[in-house]
Amino acid sequence: MTEKRFAGRGAIVTGGALGIGGATARRLAADGASVLIVDVVADAAEVNAERIRAAGGTAVAMTGDVSQEPVVKSMVERAVTEFGRLDIMVQNAYGGGSDRAGSAVEVKPESWHAGMDLLVTALYLGAKYGVPAMEESGSAPGSDPGPWTGAGLRHGSPPKMNVGRIVNISSVHGILQAPRSLIYEAGKAAVIGLTRQMAVDFGPLGITVNAIAPGHIVTERGEAMWGEVGNEAGFRLFELHYPVRRTGVPDDIAAGIAFLCSDEASFITGVTLPIDGGMSVQLQENIVMDTKDYILENPGLRTHFDQDRGTARR
Ligand SMILES: NC(=O)c1ccc[n+]([C@@H]2O[C@H](COP(=O)([O-])OP(=O)(O)OC[C@H]3O[C@@H](n4cnc5c(N)ncnc54)[C@H](O)[C@@H]3O)[C@@H](O)[C@H]2O)c1
Repeated sequence: MTEKRFAGRGAIVTGGALGIGGATARRLAADGASVLIVDVVADAAEVNAERIRAAGGTAVAMTGDVSQEPVVKSMVERAVTEFGRLDIMVQNAYGGGSDRAGSAVEVKPESWHAGMDLLVTALYLGAKYGVPAMEESGSAPGSDPGPWTGAGLRHGSPPKMNVGRIVNISSVHGILQAPRSLIYEAGKAAVIGLTRQMAVDFGPLGITVNAIAPGHIVTERGEAMWGEVGNEAGFRLFELHYPVRRTGVPDDIAAGIAFLCSDEASFITGVTLPIDGGMSVQLQENIVMDTKDYILENPGLRTHFDQDRGTARR
């Protein structure tokens, strides 16, 4: 049997209990990584860790709010203590309340700060503590590239490779703006800038830093919300504006994250990869016209936008 691609590697997934983070923790573990799930919801984090262990993987759950510096510091220490090393960090956690919606005129300063603490500061802190731990861990197990034959030789020694992988979760909302969503949109755009900066700073250490911009991903929570406020016709309308004619599932994002964490991706850094079924490359005027026909044919449709019209959404 061939060795799994992340065998022997230590990983952290923030917000790894549910949704995209939940699927990512399972995916990395299925590929051989030992995974520390860090989440504010203790029971769901433990359930996901147990699910991974039941499938033969290695996972540990830790409860904590990653917008808090002591939590981030201790999650890195915990990963190193549990697994002996840190190779992969997926910065995914987010959960926003209704106070996060609004324009610059509407949002309260305390909501702005709380939003930025989780959307942006948490990712800065993750790198602050995670990067030295990755450096200390050295090249990931099984990633020895062999004798160096590339152009890096002109610097006198082979470049460092596969020392670490950071994947930050942005959103299509970091690329395109929804109305009255200042905090989320500005925060997710900042994730893209922060990722590029970290790629430049940590590339020489052999650590790549990339972002993913998911489109609409139907998570456990999303599914429940759709069940409450949407209907079939509404869901199909939503899918209609995706060129691939479906919205995403957490495994779509987990697959992209796993690729960016792999040795094959060692020359990819600083990019923001949209995983959105083509939604963000589509010219809007055509879809508006196509959508008009669908709405006229389905006057009873309901979507999650009917629940909180005009407020912040993902
Ligand atoms: N689902 C989508 O359509 C979508 C689209 C684009 C981007 N995203 C982004 O993907 C990421 C995951 O979203 P999701 O839809 O899977 O959400 P989710 O609510 O299903 O899962 C988020 C997880 O993060 C945890 N969490 C929340 N606040 C936390 C904190 N302060 N510290 C630690 N853990 C915390 C939650 O308990 C939960 O387990 C987020 O960054 C989100 O902005 C989601």
